[in-house]
Amino acid sequence: KTIYLKDYQVPDYLVKTTDLRFEIYDGETIVSAMLDLYRNPAATTAATQLRLHGADLELISISLDDKVLTPADYEFGEESLTLFNTPETFKLLTITKIKPEANTSLEGLYRSRTMYCTQCEAEGFRKITYYLDRPDVMSEFTTTVVADKKYPVLLSNGNLLEQGELDNNRHYAIWHDPFKKPAYLFALVAGDLAHIEDSFTTCSGREVALKIFVEPKDLDKCDHAMTSLKNSMRWDEEVYGREYDLNIFMIVAVDDFNMGAMENKGLNIFNTSCVLAKPETTTDAGFQRVEGVVAHEYFHNWSGNRVTCRDWFQLSLKEGFTVYRDAEFSADMGSRTVKRVEGVTLLRTLQFAEDAGPMAHPIRPESYIEISNFYTMTVYEKGAEIIRMLATLLGKDNFRKGTDLYFDRHDGQAVTTEDFVAALADASGRDLTQFKRWYSQAGTPRLEVTDHYDEDAQEYRLTFKQSCPATPECQHKLPFHIPVAMGLLGSAGDLPLYLKDAEPDFETSDNTYKVLELTQAEQSFVFQRVQEKPVPSLLRGFSAPVKLHYHYSRADLVLLMSRDSDGFNRWEASQQLGLAAIYTAMQHYQQGGDLSGWVLDADLIEAYRSVLQDESLDQAMVAYMLSLPSEAYLSELAEVVDVEAIHYSRLAVRKALAHALRDEFVRIYNAYNHQQAYRVTADAIASRSLKNVALAYLILLNDETLIRACEQQYRTSNNMTDVMAALTQLVNSESSLGQGLAENALADFYQRWQHESLVVNQWLMVQASCSLPNTLAKVKALLEHPGFDGKNPNKIRALIASFCNSNAINFHANAGAGYQFLADQIIQLNRQNPQIASRLLTPLTKWKKYNSQQQTLMKAELERIMAEPQLSKDVFEVVSKSLA
Ligand code: ARG
Ligand code: ZN
Repeated sequence: KTIYLKDYQVPDYLVKTTDLRFEIYDGETIVSAMLDLYRNPAATTAATQLRLHGADLELISISLDDKVLTPADYEFGEESLTLFNTPETFKLLTITKIKPEANTSLEGLYRSRTMYCTQCEAEGFRKITYYLDRPDVMSEFTTTVVADKKYPVLLSNGNLLEQGELDNNRHYAIWHDPFKKPAYLFALVAGDLAHIEDSFTTCSGREVALKIFVEPKDLDKCDHAMTSLKNSMRWDEEVYGREYDLNIFMIVAVDDFNMGAMENKGLNIFNTSCVLAKPETTTDAGFQRVEGVVAHEYFHNWSGNRVTCRDWFQLSLKEGFTVYRDAEFSADMGSRTVKRVEGVTLLRTLQFAEDAGPMAHPIRPESYIEISNFYTMTVYEKGAEIIRMLATLLGKDNFRKGTDLYFDRHDGQAVTTEDFVAALADASGRDLTQFKRWYSQAGTPRLEVTDHYDEDAQEYRLTFKQSCPATPECQHKLPFHIPVAMGLLGSAGDLPLYLKDAEPDFETSDNTYKVLELTQAEQSFVFQRVQEKPVPSLLRGFSAPVKLHYHYSRADLVLLMSRDSDGFNRWEASQQLGLAAIYTAMQHYQQGGDLSGWVLDADLIEAYRSVLQDESLDQAMVAYMLSLPSEAYLSELAEVVDVEAIHYSRLAVRKALAHALRDEFVRIYNAYNHQQAYRVTADAIASRSLKNVALAYLILLNDETLIRACEQQYRTSNNMTDVMAALTQLVNSESSLGQGLAENALADFYQRWQHESLVVNQWLMVQASCSLPNTLAKVKALLEHPGFDGKNPNKIRALIASFCNSNAINFHANAGAGYQFLADQIIQLNRQNPQIASRLLTPLTKWKKYNSQQQTLMKAELERIMAEPQLSKDVFEVVSKSLA
C-alpha cells in the first residue's frame, strides 16, 4: 500500500503521558503501557474511534479507564488495533507479550549477543506495544525496566528516577524523560555492560554526565568516541548556540544494528562500527567515521529531537540538516577541503546514481510503500547539499539567524521542511520560493556553461543553461535556484571580478570570489575590465549538487589544478584530467586495442609530477589528486556501463602513471614510511594516506623489492590503516609473489584478529573486493567461514555488499553468476531482515545501465525475487519500482 504526502491528516488523538513497564524474561518480555490520551483539538472531526499501530504483538489484556475491554470493543487490522466508542479523554492500559530473542529484523526490541536493545525509527515502536506510532504524536515518557540481575545495566531515555532490588534475583530501574518526544525516539537497553564515564560543563554551567556503554571486551576502544562527543557538544554551542538539556548523555554500542546509529533522546544506540576505535584495530577512515557519527547523533538532539518531523516525508528536515551539521563539524575538526572532497565523492558516485535510477525521489518524497527504503543518499546527502546551498545563499550571519529562529519558533514541535525554509526566509528577508523546488523535484540538474571573451571591450561573458532529466515522479522540471560560486583565473592568478549590472553591494567583499545565482533556464553574466582571456573556476567548493559541463582544454585544467585558489576545484581539475586520460584508454580498448604498456602524454605526467612536488599542498589533497576517479564514478557518468573497459582502462592509466612516476612515488613512500606513535590528527592521517597511495601505484610495477616492502609494511605497522593498506595491495597484486604473500598474510591476519569482530569484517571486505578472477568462489566459501555470521548486518555488508557494490569486474562476470548469488542472498534475508535485504538490492536496480545481455540476466534475477511468496514491503517496493 502506497502512502502519500498529500493525504496527511493530523492525528485524532494525542498522548499526554506514556508510562511503560518492561518485564524482561528469557524468551519473552511483557510490556505494560499506560497511555493518557485526549482528543486532538486540531482534528477536523470529533473521532470516536482510535486506531493504534501494532505489529508482531500478543495482546494479553486491554482496559480503558479501568474497564477491561472485550473483543467486541476493538478490532485487529493489519498492523493495527482499533478501539470503538472512545471518549474525549481516557487512560488506556495494554499488556502485551513480545519475543525479542526471536526478532531477527533488528527493529523494535531485540537481542544482540549479550544484551537487549531497541531500534524504533522509523516505525519500530509498534513492535513493542500498541501506540500512535507517528512522529507528530509527542508524549512524556516514564519507563520502568525489570530484569534478572544477570543484566546489571538497565537504561532508557531521560534521567534516572529510581532503581532497586526485587525478589527472584531481579531488579529494576525507572527512567523519566521530561521532554515530549515521538515514539521513534524511545530506547531501552538491558545488559551486562561496562562503561567509561566523563563529564561536560555546558555553556550555562550545567554539568552533564557522559557515559559510553559497551561489552566489557571493548572498554579499551571508547576514548575516541568520548573525545568526539565532547568536541561535538562544544561545537554545537559555539556554532549553533545549542546547549544540551539533560543531566546525562549515554551511548550504547551494539554489534547487530541495521544502520549506523540512532539519536534516541539521551540514550544514543550505535552500531559498534561507529563507536569503537583504537589504532591497532581501526583505520583512519574508521576513526573519522566514529567522530562523524557521534557528532551526527548528538546534533540530532536539537535538529531532530527538540524539533522533530511532522511525518516521514519530512525526514530530510532532520537528516539533511544534521548531515550538513556533522560535515561542517568534521571540516572544523580536520581538513576542510579534504572533508569536502570526500563528501562530494560520495554524493557524485552514490547519490547521483540513485537520482538516475528507478528509486529516484526528491529529498521530500511524495509517496512511499515502506519508509525504511527512504533513508537514502538522497534524503541524507543531497538533503545536506540543499542546506549547504541555503547557507551559501544567505551567508553565515543570516543563516545562523535563520537556524536560531527555527529552533526557537518550533522547539517542542513536529514540523515540515516548509517550516524550516520559512524560518530561514523570515530571518534573512530572502525570497526562497523558487529555491523550494529542490525539495520537490528529483534528478541531478545539468549545467552547460559556455563563454565568450571580447578583447576589445575587455568583457567576458559566461552563459549557463540548466536542465534536469525526467525522474519517475516528474517529467518536466522547472528551473532550480542554483548558487554558482566562482572566480576567474588569469595567467598570474585570480582576477578581480567586476560584474556588469550587479547590485552595488555585490562588489564589496572578496573581490575574486562571487556567488552567481541562477534562477532561469538560461542566463548570462558579463564581467568587465577583464584584461586577458580567463579560465573560469566554476562551482567552487561544489556549491550546488549539479553536473557541470564546460569545455576545458587540458592546459586549462593543468592551470586550475596547480593554481586555483579554491582547493576543491584544484582537486576537481585533477579528476577531469584523470577522466580524460581514462576515456582515451577506453576508446582504444573498445576498438579492440591492447592496453599493455599503455603510456600517457608527457604533459599529463608532468602535471601529476608537479602535484607530487607541490610543498604548499596539504598531503591529503595530494593523495586525493593522485587518485583517479573510481570505477563507481566512471559507471555513474557512463550512458551504458562497459564494466571491463572501465576496469582495464583505469588500471592501464594507473600502471602508466606508476611507471612514469616511479622515482617520485618511491621518494614519497620512503619519506613517509617511518614508524611513529599513531595519532589521528589531520596531518598524520594525510601522511599515511599519501604514503599508501604511493604504495598502491608502486605495487602495480610487479617489482619484487616493492612487493616485499609492502609485505613488510603489513607485518611491522603499528596501526590498522597501514596494515590494511598493505594487505589490500598484496591481495590485489597480479604477481605470483604477491599472491603467495597475500595468502600467508590473510591467514596470519585472521589468526591474529579472530576475536575482534570489526577487524574480521575488514578481513572479509578486503577479500570480497579483490578484483582478480575467482573472487565469487572465495566469497561463497567465506559464507561458511566461522568469521562470517549471516545474521549480523555488518558481516553481510562486509562480505556480500562489498562484493556486489565494490567489485564490478567480478560481480558482472561469468554470465550472471554474481547476480544469481546476490538474488539468492536477498531471498534468504527477505523474511529474516527486510531492511538489510532491501538495501542489498541496489546494484540490481541499476540494470538499465548495462549491456543488453547483462540487462536480461539482472532483470531475470529481479523477477525471480519478485516471484517469491511473502515478499516484505521493503523488498517489494524496490523490486517492483525497478521493474516498472
Ligand atoms: N536517525 C538515524 C540516523 O540518522 C537513522 C535511523 C535509521 N533507521 C531506519 N530504520 N532506517 O542517524
Ligand atoms: Zn540522522
